[in-house]
Amino acid sequence: MTAKTIDGRAIAKEVRAAVAADVAAMVAEGHKPPGLATVLVGENPASQVYVRMKHKACEKAGITSFQHTLPATATQEEVEAMVKELNANPEVHGILVQLPLPNGLDDERVLNSISIDKDVDGFHPINIGRLAQKGREPQFIPCTPHGCIHLLKTSGIELEGANAVVLGRSNIVGMPVALLLVEENATVTICHSRTRNLAEKCREADILIAAVGRPEMVKADWIKPGAAVIDVGVNRIDDPTAERGYRLVGDVAYDEANEVAGYLTPVPGGVGPMTIAMLLRNTVRAAKIAYGG
Ligand code: GUN
Repeated sequence: MTAKTIDGRAIAKEVRAAVAADVAAMVAEGHKPPGLATVLVGENPASQVYVRMKHKACEKAGITSFQHTLPATATQEEVEAMVKELNANPEVHGILVQLPLPNGLDDERVLNSISIDKDVDGFHPINIGRLAQKGREPQFIPCTPHGCIHLLKTSGIELEGANAVVLGRSNIVGMPVALLLVEENATVTICHSRTRNLAEKCREADILIAAVGRPEMVKADWIKPGAAVIDVGVNRIDDPTAERGYRLVGDVAYDEANEVAGYLTPVPGGVGPMTIAMLLRNTVRAAKIAYGG
C-alpha cells in the first residue's frame, strides 16, 4: 500500500486564502492592514531563505511587512533595542525574531523582550507556559507545531486516544507539538537522542512526528503500517546532480516510508508551507487584538 500524501501546499493555500479574506475585511472596516516585522541577525543562508519566504507570503495576503537585518556581530543590547522599538511601533502587530540567533546571543532574553501581544511565533515563555497548562489559552500557538496539528486534522486523522510519538524535543517544534497533541487528548511519547529502543517506540505510533533534523533517519521499519507520519525535517544533503549542488530531504526516508505509512507529508511541500500560513494567521490575530476585536 502506498501512503496518502498530505499536501501541505494545498492545505496552506486554503489557510492563506482565509487570511487574505480576513485582511481585506479589516481594511474595509477602515483599519490599516496587519503588520509583521521580522528581525534577522547574521547571514545564516537557510534563515535568509525562510525570512524572504515569509515576506513574500505577507505581501500576497495583504499584510504589511517590515524587514530588519542586523549583522552577526550585533550585541545582545542592540537586538533587544530593536525589539523594544518594534514593541512600541503601532504599525507592527507581530514580531518575529528568526532563530537560531548567532552564537553568543541569548535567545531566551530576546524572546522574553517581545511584547506578549505581538509574539506571533508563540515563543515567549508566557505563551509556552500557558500552552503547557490545562485550561489556559496561549495568546499565540507556535506556527510549525500548529501547522502539524492542522495537517492531521484536515486529513481526518483521529487524535483523541491515538498513540502519538514525537521525535525531538526542541523548543521550536518537538516540545510545543507534544503539548498540542496532549491538548488534543492523544497519548504522547517524546523521544530524543537518549531514548532506548527508538525504532520500537516509533513503531507504536499511530501518529509519528519527526522533528530531529537528521536526514532520512526514520526508516520503513520504524513505522507502524497505516500510521500518519508528519516530517518536519528540512535537511540539505549534497547532490552533485542537482543544480544547486544539494537537495532537501526530511527526517523520514520518504520512498520506503511511503510503502508502510497510511499518511505522509513530503519534503518540501508538507509542513514548511504550513509554518508560513500559521504565521500569517497569527499576525491577523495580533492585529485584531490591537484593534480591540
Ligand atoms: N527557525 C526555525 N523555525 C522558526 C520559526 O518558526 N520561527 C522563528 N522565529 N525561527 C525559526
